[in-house]
Amino acid sequence: MFDSGVGGLTVLHECLVSLPEEDFVYLGDTALFPYGDKDTAWLRERIGAISALLLEGGAKLLVIACNTATSIGDDVAREVAAEHGVEVVPVVEPQAEIAAAITDNGRIGVLATPNTVESGAYRRALEAQGRALEVTEVEAPDLAPFIQQGSPFDESTMEMARSYCAPLKRAKVDTLILGCTHYPLVAPMLQRILGRDIRLVSGGHAVAAAVQRSLERRGLAREADGEGDYRFLCTGEVDSFRDLGTRFLQMPLGEIEQVALHT
Ligand code: DGL
Repeated sequence: MFDSGVGGLTVLHECLVSLPEEDFVYLGDTALFPYGDKDTAWLRERIGAISALLLEGGAKLLVIACNTATSIGDDVAREVAAEHGVEVVPVVEPQAEIAAAITDNGRIGVLATPNTVESGAYRRALEAQGRALEVTEVEAPDLAPFIQQGSPFDESTMEMARSYCAPLKRAKVDTLILGCTHYPLVAPMLQRILGRDIRLVSGGHAVAAAVQRSLERRGLAREADGEGDYRFLCTGEVDSFRDLGTRFLQMPLGEIEQVALHT
């Protein structure tokens, strides 16, 4: 599983809960975080290098926990994975499927990074669901870095969340896709601003279900016989990965190794 940093640990956590018997290796590209506003050609190269590293390490399935990486480069990951005969589970499609299934009024909001919104990936995935849907996408350039910098629960984050929610309220969405790994951390805030009736669809839950389906379909699921292992690779500093990552995973991280990517 990989992500632009520690945010994908919200996705890993759901997988650890749904598939406790599996072993996970998580790579956080913390040296390059955030992906949301970086040059996409460079990011696509990066996604290829990360996918190769994880697959050469023997992964039986590749999970893209990062919404931005999925949106701009899931085809790159799939190409590398195909060479290893491995399937890829990205974060966008499973979320779109759930959102399209649960909306009552057909109005779906997507809150995401600029690269994710500009890629059109959510819009395409929602259009592919075969329902007439009205999609309102909002770019939130500052929200993920803000949450990561350590101030997810203060007044300024609330103000920022309010401004990003305003167009979603005007569009009367009844379902909001949290199109970024960091947003589950501010879900209580978004729910307060948008109201109880709005359904929030986060990536973790959707991905965990998709991972389970993929492993079962390919006969790769492990017998449910206890807890598997998890370990971490990061491209930035190990100590800051541990500090930030513990906050996102809300469990001890254990083994973390720094790796270099040549892109
Ligand atoms: N993991 C990234 C995402 O979901 C976090 C934000 C970023 O890297 O810009 O889009």
